[in-house]
Amino acid sequence: MRVHLKMYAPREDSFFLSETLKGYLKKKDKKIKIIDLGTGSGIQAETCKNLGFKDTLALDIDRASVDFVRRKKIKAIQSDLFSKISKKDKFDLIIFNPPYLPEDKHDKGQDTSGGKLGDEVIIKFLNQARSYLDKRGDILLLLSSLTPRDRINKIIEKYYKAEKLGEKKIFFEKLEIWKIKEKSSR
Ligand SMILES: C[S@@+](CC[C@H](N)C(=O)[O-])C[C@H]1O[C@@H](n2cnc3c(N)ncnc32)[C@H](O)[C@@H]1O
Repeated sequence: MRVHLKMYAPREDSFFLSETLKGYLKKKDKKIKIIDLGTGSGIQAETCKNLGFKDTLALDIDRASVDFVRRKKIKAIQSDLFSKISKKDKFDLIIFNPPYLPEDKHDKGQDTSGGKLGDEVIIKFLNQARSYLDKRGDILLLLSSLTPRDRINKIIEKYYKAEKLGEKKIFFEKLEIWKIKEKSSR
């Protein structure tokens, strides 16, 4: 059973993604539509908002995270991945720092564990995200060396093209941030 322990407080992965996001947003039109999926404390959505990107929507499966982020005057909805978003809505940027650790008997938290092997939430995400991404839109996805990559890579190869924006070693894992676009986009 997946359990929720407490809201995900920003850690190394969050700060790495936030810094990369700042660089990515430098050349972007302030009017773009953004989703911060699995918003947690709202750090990524807040980065967007502070840089003037007002059309930013935060989503999280966790009620406490949604309530917390709303208090920062950021629009937030409780949603299991994109379940509460209409497929008619298309976004220019979808940011996701997913739960990516394999479940173990000590950690089954939905903020960190991405399922039994650690790739399950990311796989679901990649299968769904195409329906919500504008033709020219980007996904910024954080991946870890601790997450099995085979099934993730297969989906990326099938539907998307991907470019690594950065990597960082922390403790016993390597974090990577990928910019992912639909195959058909320019
Ligand atoms: C690693 S934390 C990242 C939090 C924050 N974005 C950051 O960078 O610090 C993963 C977040 O994803 C959320 N999450 C897990 N499964 C989800 C799902 N199926 N749909 C939406 N959010 C989910 C968790 O509640 C948690 O807040």
